[in-house]
Amino acid sequence: MATRQKHARSTIKASAQVKSNHGSSGMAPAKGKLGVMLPGMGAVATTFVAGVEAIRKGLAKPIGSLTQMGTIRLGKRTDGRSPKLKEFVPLAGLDDLVFTGWDIFEDDMYSAATNAGVLERDLLDKIKPLLSSVKPRKAVFDHNYVKNIDGPNVKKGNNKMDLAEQVRDDIRDFKKTSGASRLITAWCGSTESYIEPTAAHQSLKAFEKAMTQNDENIAPSMIYAYASLMEGVPFANGAPNLTVDIPVMHELARQNEAPICGKDFKTGQTLIKTILAPGFKARMIGLNGWFSTNILGNRDGEVLEDPGSFKTKEESKLSVLEHILQPELYPDLYGKFTHKVRINYYPPRGDNKEGWDNIDIFGWLGYPMQIKVDFLCRDSILAAPIVLDLVLFLDLAKRSSELRGIGIQEWLSFYFKSPMTAPGLYPEHDLFIQLMKLKNTLRHLKGEELITHLGLEYYD
Ligand SMILES: NC(=O)c1ccc[n+]([C@@H]2O[C@H](COP(=O)([O-])OP(=O)(O)OC[C@H]3O[C@@H](n4cnc5c(N)ncnc54)[C@H](O)[C@@H]3O)[C@@H](O)[C@H]2O)c1
Repeated sequence: MATRQKHARSTIKASAQVKSNHGSSGMAPAKGKLGVMLPGMGAVATTFVAGVEAIRKGLAKPIGSLTQMGTIRLGKRTDGRSPKLKEFVPLAGLDDLVFTGWDIFEDDMYSAATNAGVLERDLLDKIKPLLSSVKPRKAVFDHNYVKNIDGPNVKKGNNKMDLAEQVRDDIRDFKKTSGASRLITAWCGSTESYIEPTAAHQSLKAFEKAMTQNDENIAPSMIYAYASLMEGVPFANGAPNLTVDIPVMHELARQNEAPICGKDFKTGQTLIKTILAPGFKARMIGLNGWFSTNILGNRDGEVLEDPGSFKTKEESKLSVLEHILQPELYPDLYGKFTHKVRINYYPPRGDNKEGWDNIDIFGWLGYPMQIKVDFLCRDSILAAPIVLDLVLFLDLAKRSSELRGIGIQEWLSFYFKSPMTAPGLYPEHDLFIQLMKLKNTLRHLKGEELITHLGLEYYD
């Protein structure tokens, strides 16, 4: 018996110290400037750029950014090795970031940030030179996709392919004029109306044909994505739109070695949901219902007043609980819960959203309990560090021989409400599993032991 136990333990020990087989330092260094391209220069984009500049000037700290503040444990707990993430893998430095963007409004980033009302005027004035230097390029826009806003700064073209060519010209122009050695696109534009994948989205051939025929199923965000991927530029999607989550974009991303990720930055209420729900499941606490409602008064809220845009957002917000709680595995606990999400546009609140959650849970012998969460949240303050991390990690992926050709970067699920995965694979929504996946990917890339948290070796 003793020998069997010993054998079992040494087998476990071997698997606890899984060494990454492929791990290598196949990552080119981050040399030169990194150009960040932002379709949509609203609250999130301006709060991100303003934040980077404020941090560069020593006016603030990068709170909320894993790449800037996070550490990664390496080896055994007793080894005492926990470098900062940015020292462990070769990430671009904040001083190397340069910016451009597109918007349907003509405001430069200083005016757009002032209008968004997220950051104080006093701070914006201290970083005005950079912000006012970022002027919006003309946007690809289709009012049918975002019904509640309209603006003058819009490209004209013969068809959608022509518009994509114009965006590709913008990309090349930015690369030349900024002197950037590498580029990333992060969609920070409005949420587009809900659509489902159609035949036009299935292959490059079908997609390009559909663009020349002005097919209505090709959304503006897809035109930016196509242009970026054609230029070999990685693309992150901060909105819940389909955008890069269609077969043609998966194909293009792999073919042109331009990593992609999305959808919908995980901020506010969904962030809290993916923190709480794994805790309930861990303790086998049941759920009868989860009612989430929000008031917000920014432009995002105005866009989401339109039922088409709201449907896109709702789908993204609703999928989270089903995946975390796995009702098919736990029918007694999660087989019958009601999940509702509401967003109300309420102008007086501006970007300072208030999100209420009423959670009806049940415990031992089925006894009911309630939890109420009232989150007085600042949406763009939570989103800005996500944009920064995604930009830096996508750039790393592009420089990694192992990641650049795989298309979807599932290890970045941590940042999204509705993470993209390989077809047929369900997404992982639990924030803590997502974080482990992210850190283990970095360990793997560097040939370090993956951490399984088994820990029996400490008791040998
Ligand atoms: N704020 C958050 O915490 C958060 C969280 C998750 C997702 N998001 C998503 O991120 C996106 C940006 O959010 P925001 O709060 O900055 O919204 P916002 O309304 O302040 O900014 C969006 C900007 O995109 C512009 N735009 C719309 N269509 C465009 C197009 N086709 N090309 C170029 N510009 C276009 C709009 O004019 C606007 O200035 C939204 O889709 C939102 O749903 C935001």
